Amino acid sequence: MSDYVVELKNVTKRFPGVVALRNMSLQIKQGEILGLVGENGAGKSTLIKVLTGVYLPDEGEIYVDGIKQNIKTPNDAKNAGIACVYQELNIVKLLSITDNIFINKLIRKKNSRLLDYNTMHKKAHEVMLSLGQDVDEKKPCGNFGMGILQMVEIAKAVLVDTKLIIMDEPTSSLGEKEVEQLMSTIRTLKARGVSILFVSHKLEELFEVCDRVTVMRDGEHILTNDIKNMNNEKLITAMVGRTLDNQYPKVAGKKGREALRVENLNSAGVLHDISFTAYHGEILGIAGLVGAGRTETCLAIFGAFPIDSGNLHIDGKKIVNKSPKDAVRNGIALLTEDRKGQGLVLSQGIDTNLALANLKKFSKGPWLNKGKIRETGNKNIEDFKIKTPGLKTIAGQLSGGNQQKVVIGKWINTDADIFLFDEPTRGIDVGAKVEVYHIMNRLVAEGKCVIMVSSELPEILGMSDRVIIMREGRIMGEIERESSKFSQEIIMKGAWGGKI
Ligand SMILES: Nc1ncnc2c1ncn2[C@@H]1O[C@H](COP(=O)(O)OP(=O)(O)OP(=O)(O)O)[C@@H](O)[C@H]1O
Ligand SMILES: [Mg+2]
Repeated sequence: MSDYVVELKNVTKRFPGVVALRNMSLQIKQGEILGLVGENGAGKSTLIKVLTGVYLPDEGEIYVDGIKQNIKTPNDAKNAGIACVYQELNIVKLLSITDNIFINKLIRKKNSRLLDYNTMHKKAHEVMLSLGQDVDEKKPCGNFGMGILQMVEIAKAVLVDTKLIIMDEPTSSLGEKEVEQLMSTIRTLKARGVSILFVSHKLEELFEVCDRVTVMRDGEHILTNDIKNMNNEKLITAMVGRTLDNQYPKVAGKKGREALRVENLNSAGVLHDISFTAYHGEILGIAGLVGAGRTETCLAIFGAFPIDSGNLHIDGKKIVNKSPKDAVRNGIALLTEDRKGQGLVLSQGIDTNLALANLKKFSKGPWLNKGKIRETGNKNIEDFKIKTPGLKTIAGQLSGGNQQKVVIGKWINTDADIFLFDEPTRGIDVGAKVEVYHIMNRLVAEGKCVIMVSSELPEILGMSDRVIIMREGRIMGEIERESSKFSQEIIMKGAWGGKI
């Protein structure tokens, strides 16, 4: 028997202009939780796709229980006992939990072609329960949130005796409670002898749940060690190849005149009397739990979420944003948390995407100003350290984090005065985060107004001049950077409904 349940040996994977994996090796023990980290574009997702038969490696081998595998398709991977919970879940929302779990292995009544729903419902309920979810398995998946849907994916894997479950940034769209639930499920799976490969940019999660950690950089293996031998600094240094002295390079803003005044925004059941003012030259943080209405507030300001009443003023002048087009015309940019849905045209080049939010600026008369697009695009790539073979590379071929950097670039290239950043550093590695913070600093130094929604409290506290705290569609209070109340404790208290 091999010491390892799954082993990747000397794997190389090339894409045009990029070596995504270079002689990469990785070993996973039975029943262990192995963390996998690295900068955006390091090759983590590619490694997973090789393990799950989505990509064929150019060189190298995969072993399961010491036996060399010939994994050519996702089905081969499944048969070898390797499953993956992807970020874009493979769930059919109209179908029930039971249907989704059994979609590929329907149970039929004995000697009949009729489906045995009694058995399937029972088994579906049992397996969900064993993962800590007491749910109505007959209900359509569309009725449930991300946390439960992820569990449905895990249930699918558990039911077929999977040896290794791979999770690629599984917590990036979960709320606090759901993250806790997932962590506990991961531990349950481990106790049952299942191995987990856990990819995340949130280092504290790795310290919480992993046994060992592997760091990769530029497609290569850098180190593997027990997590107890590592700390934040060691991990970051291994990931970025240098020390990072200041994770939050805050430069105090110079608060100027009023930029955006929001008055009594109401949207039935979602937003209740949202009023606040944001100023030129400041970063205003919006904190709160997932579901507190922060994203809806941004969308409403941007004309992309219906409101029943309320007023907006920019520079003291009343405006109405009926659509995002109006908002852009009024000098507002929105960087969405959902880069695939609203941020990027995945089939288009980086250059086009970077120019897309301000075509006027990048046109000469009726023609596109290609020189200007190229010049700005190359500068964006340098400024944000976008890892790409070139400016014309299709956005869909970039790693997740690098796509997010293109979304940021696209909006920075507009002439907006007010920037709404919704979870701007989601999926971005620690080094690149610092670049995003520098950009925010630059914007406010130029007198722009930055409003930042973030679920990461260190980021909110690290970068905001002022923070408003939301809960269940209401503003609970506001704290200034200079105030003694400017702390994680006070924010959490407000977010959970306490008095600030
Ligand atoms: N289908 C593809 N075609 C061309 N290049 C690709 C493709 N998929 C990935 N790449 C490139 O391979 C490299 C590794 O990408 P990968 O997605 O594995 O990174 P990652 O470590 O998952 O990064 P992130 O943290 O941003 O998700 C990147 O340079 C990326 O642009
Ligand atoms: Mg990735």
